[in-house]
Amino acid sequence: MAEQKTWSQRFEGALHPAIVRFNASIDFDIELIEYDLTGSLAHAKMLAKTGIISAEEGEKIVTGLEQIRKEYQEGLFNPGVDAEDVHFAVERRLTEIIGDTGKKLHTGRSRNDQVGTDTRLYLRAQIEQIRAQIKDFQEVLLSLAEQNIETLIPGYTHLQRAQPVSLAHHLLAYFEMTQRDWERLGDVYKRVDISPLGCGALAGTTFPIDRHYTAELLGFSSVYSNSLDGVSDRDFAIEFLNAASLIMVHLSRLSEEVILWSSQEFNFVTLTDSCATGSSIMPQKKNPDVPELVRGKTGRVFGHLQGMLVLMKGLPLAYNKDLQEDKEALFDAVKTVKACLEAMTILMREGIVFRKERLAEAVAEDFSNATDVADYLAAKGVPFREAYNLVGKVVKTCLAGGKLLKDLTLDEWKTLHPAFEQDIYEAITPKQVVSARNSFGGTGFEQVKRGLAEAKSKI
Ligand code: ARG
Repeated sequence: MAEQKTWSQRFEGALHPAIVRFNASIDFDIELIEYDLTGSLAHAKMLAKTGIISAEEGEKIVTGLEQIRKEYQEGLFNPGVDAEDVHFAVERRLTEIIGDTGKKLHTGRSRNDQVGTDTRLYLRAQIEQIRAQIKDFQEVLLSLAEQNIETLIPGYTHLQRAQPVSLAHHLLAYFEMTQRDWERLGDVYKRVDISPLGCGALAGTTFPIDRHYTAELLGFSSVYSNSLDGVSDRDFAIEFLNAASLIMVHLSRLSEEVILWSSQEFNFVTLTDSCATGSSIMPQKKNPDVPELVRGKTGRVFGHLQGMLVLMKGLPLAYNKDLQEDKEALFDAVKTVKACLEAMTILMREGIVFRKERLAEAVAEDFSNATDVADYLAAKGVPFREAYNLVGKVVKTCLAGGKLLKDLTLDEWKTLHPAFEQDIYEAITPKQVVSARNSFGGTGFEQVKRGLAEAKSKI
């Protein structure tokens, strides 16, 4: 049976049982155990290397910590609330396993620098995993784009039909957004990758520790230069939540589009059975639960970002117990982003099928080629603003007669403006409208192929 009390002999009474539960973080910070063990291993090795403990004591501690790791992996290490948090739980178990030497592990450090170290180790690993997931998602976007360079889809502004675009161009826009997400995470990583270990409770320690050695063992690029900053900084977590929020913004926007596209009103995609769900009452329905959930889960990630900013804003230096609240936010944001990236990757890979006949119909049934009529005249020397006004009149005439631009006869075109020739018909076909937009970054097929090639080189 473990010792009940973790505090010094200054304490006589025991904590109220409800306060024990209130104070404890073990229920959620057990998530950090692998990193806590790794951090403690580095600390123990450093203590032995600097002669603060003997080599033999160091080895004993290392063996004990490795045993705890094994026990945890086998499901045999399940500390309860009486351990308060993962750090105490590990130290207590270590002492059970190796005896009093276990009590030397905490020399020259505090739970304050310890928890900061654990959280950074955790986040480093998570950032790497999320970045890999972003690459998987992008690969799916790229292969879909590659198959759909010449598939046209209505492009919108204000959710009004504006100009048709290549479907690949549309998908590649999401590649670009997620590429920035990937890069942003790489940048955040740099500021997660700093070791606070050895900052102690707040002011450093009297022991001749070697912070650079523990940082090196843990693969940190540098160490915090100021101990007060080291134990109380959570900027790195806020930056991560910001990057996570932007990932969610991008996934949520794509989700919203898939939801619209799968509605009967748009009818641009069909949801396959592997990603759609039914209604418990309306047998005809196929619901886009996956993108709806992604859109819905976005809010909680934003909430964690906001929560963390508020958590920090009034904290005096250095560590305050408020900081224990950072973990659930971070863990939930990480889990949510990972789950959403996985689901969206599956959705885009096998959950939707673009209805090409319907898309072809959609781009040919409206006035989204009107700009091209104005451009046609402008290319023939008519000032653009004049051409624009004239085409407005043409559209009005067409609407009154229930016609599209392509339905006008050449005589009708010529009465509108003598510069119109037979080639106006070719100029306003959806395919020509798209392929003509070859300005850099435009939807013209040559540009889309360039964008695709560039994107591929980033995978
Ligand atoms: N469980 C604590 C946390 O997550 C560990 C640090 C506790 N430090 C302290 N001085 N009480 O923040």
